[in-house]
Amino acid sequence: MEIIIQPSKQAASITAARVVARLVREKPRAVLGLATGSTPLPLYHELIRMHQEEGLDFSEVTSFNLDEYVGLEAKHEQSYHSFMWQNFFRHINIDPDRVYIPDGMTTNVVASCATYERAIVDAGGIDLQILGIGSDGHIGFNEPTSSFASRTRIKTLTQETVVDNARFFDDDESQVPRHCITMGIGTIMDARSNIMLAFGDGKAEAIAAMVEGPVAAMVPASILQHHQNAKVFIDDCAASQLKLADYYRWVYAGKPEWQQDA
Ligand code: F6R
Repeated sequence: MEIIIQPSKQAASITAARVVARLVREKPRAVLGLATGSTPLPLYHELIRMHQEEGLDFSEVTSFNLDEYVGLEAKHEQSYHSFMWQNFFRHINIDPDRVYIPDGMTTNVVASCATYERAIVDAGGIDLQILGIGSDGHIGFNEPTSSFASRTRIKTLTQETVVDNARFFDDDESQVPRHCITMGIGTIMDARSNIMLAFGDGKAEAIAAMVEGPVAAMVPASILQHHQNAKVFIDDCAASQLKLADYYRWVYAGKPEWQQDA
């Protein structure tokens, strides 16, 4: 795991966006795995800027989102479909036929999840997966104790996640769906590279457990310790509980420039 600590979430997001942009330039048909939530917003903002000002071309990119709430129609304000179109897709030139988001309204969850997994394989597999982390250490909506071998399936959110996400639902926990469809941890681990973003004090404990704690199903993100190409972009606050923070800063400062967005 490579830990990249930056002074602010903007700086960390811009650095992460360069990695995404380099992939898209080198491989126009890249397959991206995308996340929702507040964390990736500055990253999407920078990619939009690169598209608008530098011509970063998404026309042949395929995307797969990590998750979707069960029971919310795509057009619901808080569905992850709406989130992605509102905050990213409508600002770039992605082909809507190449956008995949789990169907939270499916009447056949098992078949729909299997189709999603197959679509990822048919697209050639995910080149780069963007991840946020829950305060309980989840990735996607793989809550603590999720199997490391899991594939796309239905899950129940923890109470902690329901409370965390109530901010998107008028601070009313009762409006937050209890179930979601999420890529599995096995699906995420199959991505050729993973980029984790985390900002703020509220993520410091989860980041320390993920990076420096034991690999354990109680901290789903800790499995990334076993991924061959995982980068963690964090701000000083999210890094505040890392024992080896100075070492990670020292390593990154010593990286040759050509390698910094690789
Ligand atoms: C979202 C997702 C989640 C979030 C996590 C952090 O698609 O998969 O794992 O990344 O809950 O959410 P924020 O960024 O809102 O703190």
